[in-house]
Amino acid sequence: MTSSSQKPRIFSGIQPTADSFHIGNLLGALREWVKLQETHDSFFCVVDQHAITIDQDPEILRKRTLVSFAQLLAVGLDPKKCTVFAQSQVAAHSQLSWVLQCQTGFGEASRMTQFKDKSSKAGNDRSTVGLFTYPILQAADILLYQANGVPVGEDQRQHLELTRDLAQRFNSKFGETFVVPEVLVVKETSRIVDLQDPSAKMSKSSPSGCVFLLDENKTAEKKIKSAVTDSDAVVRFDELNKPGVSNLLALQKAINNTSIESLESEYSGRGYGDLKKETFEVVLSVIEPIRTRVNQLLTDPAELESLMNKGAQKARDAAEPTLNLVYDRIGFPANPQG
Ligand code: TYM
Repeated sequence: MTSSSQKPRIFSGIQPTADSFHIGNLLGALREWVKLQETHDSFFCVVDQHAITIDQDPEILRKRTLVSFAQLLAVGLDPKKCTVFAQSQVAAHSQLSWVLQCQTGFGEASRMTQFKDKSSKAGNDRSTVGLFTYPILQAADILLYQANGVPVGEDQRQHLELTRDLAQRFNSKFGETFVVPEVLVVKETSRIVDLQDPSAKMSKSSPSGCVFLLDENKTAEKKIKSAVTDSDAVVRFDELNKPGVSNLLALQKAINNTSIESLESEYSGRGYGDLKKETFEVVLSVIEPIRTRVNQLLTDPAELESLMNKGAQKARDAAEPTLNLVYDRIGFPANPQG
């Protein structure tokens, strides 16, 4: 709980590393954020500092950060109900990150699987130290706001375990300082899989298997209609033996809030053509209004920037007491913000 309100506090973040978020982000995280803003003291962050751990073009990054902010509003986050902001506008994230880096073991950071995957793809010489310390900046994001919970998809679990470990370690070494956050995962949608390779999670790095929120209708239709299925032609939910078909059913279930049983009986005696066509229609029913709203919001970039600046001010105010406390605990002079 936070002192300013009796509501429990949550924090979550999303990277502006593509031109658009995708339906995995929407169903695994964003949709939950929209619900939680009603009941929680909520902070949502476009993590542009995380985005520079891989190569970024400055103009593209600036644009993607603004478009990401617009997408967060378009999916239903309301700046009157929650705090939405860009990470780089709140210096305390990097300041706390440095302190936490000095509490993290080199071996501990080396065990992070996302770092191992990304650095093995890029090669040692092309992987930055920022990529290595990425999870510690993520821990700082969360701990700075004394969040009780962090709503995320399944792929974030290891980073959140590190966050919890760092909070507990700091508390036992320097005295109670941080809330130890809970991981909030919506099990059923926590891992939407790739349409072309259902053994992998849906990700922006595999565009043909990924439906972006801002995809044109034709593009989304093509991707869903060419989704990998199987050869037995029965529409049945079986993640192990029929992962592609199960993923399409899971998308319909999640979006329309229906049950797998009713979908299976609806498709009894019908083929994959119908399943794909109707999955596309269901997906379109959520992405089309988001795209329309994003395009409207982007007609007034000054207003978006103003909302972003206001969000950053609220975030700075909320972050300051924690940073002051941490600096005091660690033995730095008073008044750290200067
Ligand atoms: P990012 O930008 O990769 O993803 C944002 C959110 O979307 C979820 N997600 C998915 N959920 C279900 N199925 C999928 N295929 C899928 N793909 C992505 C992610 O789990 C995430 O919740 N490291 C974070 C950003 C971050 C952060 C934080 C998150 C930085 N600081 C503090 C929470 C708290 C990331 O790269 O998310």
